[in-house]
Amino acid sequence: MHELGVAILAAGQGTRMRSELNKVLHPVLGKPMILWSVGFAQQLGAGAVTLVIGNGAEAVQETVGDGVQYTLQAERLGTGHAALQAKCSLEGRTRTVLVLYGDMPTLRLETLQALVALHTARRPAVTLLSVLSDDSMGFGRVVRDAQGRACAIVEEAVATPEIMALQELNCGVYCFDAEWLWRRLPEVPQTMPKGEYYLTDTVGLAVADGLGVEVLRISDVSEVQGINTRVHLAEAERILRRRINEQHMLNGVTLADPDTAYIEPDVLIGPDTVIQPNTSLQGQTRIGAHAVIGPNSVVRDSILGDHCRVTGSCVEGATMEDHAEIGPFGHLRAGAHLAQGVHLGNYGEVKASYIGPGTKMGHLSYVGNARVGAHVNIGAGTVTCNYDGQAKHETVIGDGAFIGSGAMLVAPVNIGANARIGAGAVVTHDVPAGGLVYGVPARDHSSSDKEQPREG
Ligand code: UD1
Ligand code: CA
Repeated sequence: MHELGVAILAAGQGTRMRSELNKVLHPVLGKPMILWSVGFAQQLGAGAVTLVIGNGAEAVQETVGDGVQYTLQAERLGTGHAALQAKCSLEGRTRTVLVLYGDMPTLRLETLQALVALHTARRPAVTLLSVLSDDSMGFGRVVRDAQGRACAIVEEAVATPEIMALQELNCGVYCFDAEWLWRRLPEVPQTMPKGEYYLTDTVGLAVADGLGVEVLRISDVSEVQGINTRVHLAEAERILRRRINEQHMLNGVTLADPDTAYIEPDVLIGPDTVIQPNTSLQGQTRIGAHAVIGPNSVVRDSILGDHCRVTGSCVEGATMEDHAEIGPFGHLRAGAHLAQGVHLGNYGEVKASYIGPGTKMGHLSYVGNARVGAHVNIGAGTVTCNYDGQAKHETVIGDGAFIGSGAMLVAPVNIGANARIGAGAVVTHDVPAGGLVYGVPARDHSSSDKEQPREG
């Protein structure tokens, strides 16, 4: 039997999002909300995870995949009823059951670890998470007896003024003794007027059974705000972003304006790198030390070495080796690879191409499906014409080549090392190493007077 099983309640309709997308699929810092909860379960080492989903939630299964089990709550009859749906898949498989919601991405893993640790140390029937707050947020109140032991959770709908005044709130996160939960949960009564089954009533049941109820009380309400609206969504993003940004700053990264640095959770950044304002670092991005990224840049799923510079540019699915630079207004697309010290100036685009060390491409150029050597000069407005309307073709440029401004390199085409291409040439045939071509279409002038090219 596993120690820990997790039931994630996510059958709510999420109507207040006013969205065609299921609430728990809305991304929070680039990651669908539900994957934050699933991630917590995995990081806690859960041996079994069950997602309670509602009608029409196939998209949730598609997003989360096969790593968890699913159970359908066909009718939304309350949190107690939702948790009960997980009984079939979890009963007899785990000693403890952690119940989480699918809409609380700002929880800290450390908090959940502490909750599980408290539960496994004391082995009560229930260990619940509470928070002290003078803003009730509509949460249920934790009621304690004369000895200060938690004895009930009371929802606002049925609370007396005395209970309404209590400031210890139920967060909706619990550890249960599994054997006890699956035996007693079916006996939770239906609550009027809405006819719901409240998971919170398990606390009263445990007390009635003479069993213990433990509470882990936290003070940071930012951890436990569920997301019901897009206002909450933005707030959750802000909370998570601030935590991530603080960690990077403590690791030695300078954020010129932490409020406009949008750094997703999986991004790694080396020390003494500076992130300038209004910059998004997304997905599986890794940036070395002493780099300067931004302002006004997006780097997604890319690997950047040390001392790189990205100024006002978009870098997606690309690699930049040490001392490579791009921008302003540059665009690296999937498979772009800039070797050491490559300089890409303004209005350059590179896709599915390797650009060798020290090569310069200063202005207004497009390089796609190309292999470019070292120390090549790519003049302003050069284009690799890689697409013939049906298929993509490759351009190869050897080391030290000089491509004049406005050259059109019609792929497939091979430009030899140290070859020279005249300005405005339309190159439709291979050029040998050291060759000289120009004109439309470009012709070989290698043997002619290099200072005074004439028609060939
Ligand atoms: C619940 C708690 C309340 C606590 C609050 C914290 C109960 C009765 N009350 O309140 O004490 O302070 O959470 O946020 O448990 N869900 C289902 N199926 C259902 C009902 C809910 O899957 O039939 C899921 C929702 O998708 C949601 C979560 O359970 O993720 C919580 O539901 P919600 O209606 O927000 O709980 P509250 O009644 O607000
Ligand atoms: Ca709620």
